Amino acid sequence: MSELKDKNLNSGAIGVFDSGLGGLSVLRALLKKLPNYSYFYLGDTARVPYGERSSETIFKYTVAAVEFLFKHGCSLVIVACNTASSQALRRLQQEWLPKNYPDYRVLGVIRPLVEAIALSNKKHLGIIGTTATIKSQTYTQELKFLKPDLKIAAKATPLLVPLVEEGRLDTPETRLILEDYLKPLKMAGIDSLALACTHYPYLQNLIKELLGPEVLIYDSGKIIADSLNLYLKNHPELNLKTKNPERRFYVSDNPASFASQGEKFLGQSLKNLELANL
Ligand code: DGL
Repeated sequence: MSELKDKNLNSGAIGVFDSGLGGLSVLRALLKKLPNYSYFYLGDTARVPYGERSSETIFKYTVAAVEFLFKHGCSLVIVACNTASSQALRRLQQEWLPKNYPDYRVLGVIRPLVEAIALSNKKHLGIIGTTATIKSQTYTQELKFLKPDLKIAAKATPLLVPLVEEGRLDTPETRLILEDYLKPLKMAGIDSLALACTHYPYLQNLIKELLGPEVLIYDSGKIIADSLNLYLKNHPELNLKTKNPERRFYVSDNPASFASQGEKFLGQSLKNLELANL
């Protein structure tokens, strides 16, 4: 392990991990804001969706994914999956990382969004996410601490990830399901919405149409990219900027279907796509 550490530290790529296609919404924003870095993306397509699984299982999968990315040349990994961030990140950062890879970094996606919400002047937030994310109450607890007077209505929306993975972004069934999910939030009178799942930005147009223009939808990709930008500025010792940025993609199952869907989601071709043995 120390050999691995010496080889990669201060020169590695940035790993982006998601259970499937969703993290491409984050990667897209990172490529736009911070193009001069190498990015290695890992989608655990063999085991997606994570959202209905137990904490222990999600932790195990997340450790395997992060370790895979470290071993393939990343020294900083973004867990671009709210489910994994809410269920596994803290334990991973506090226990697993210091014990196994003390010089490596792992960041999540929840904190940046929570901070952006806390800074806004909106008063009534809706949150939609997977069952595991909503059940963890990570968003509500962190927001209670940072912005105690914010009213929050949270709703688990478990059918959305499979619909997005299938590419059903604006089909009659997606519309019906979304209408049903958003109804109680609309009735509660939310003025803003957090998409607490990286798959949901692909449904943003439809969500916007259903909620109306007066409800602000936080742009989580941009918020995460801005936050990473700041983090990299504050940690010049990581020295990850490169003149020859590389993009690599790994999936744990079915690269062909990931490629066809993923290219639409990322807005560019997915070269260097390989099967990952997690
Ligand atoms: N994209 C993941 C998230 O942000 C979840 C999808 C899943 O259930 O695997 O929560």
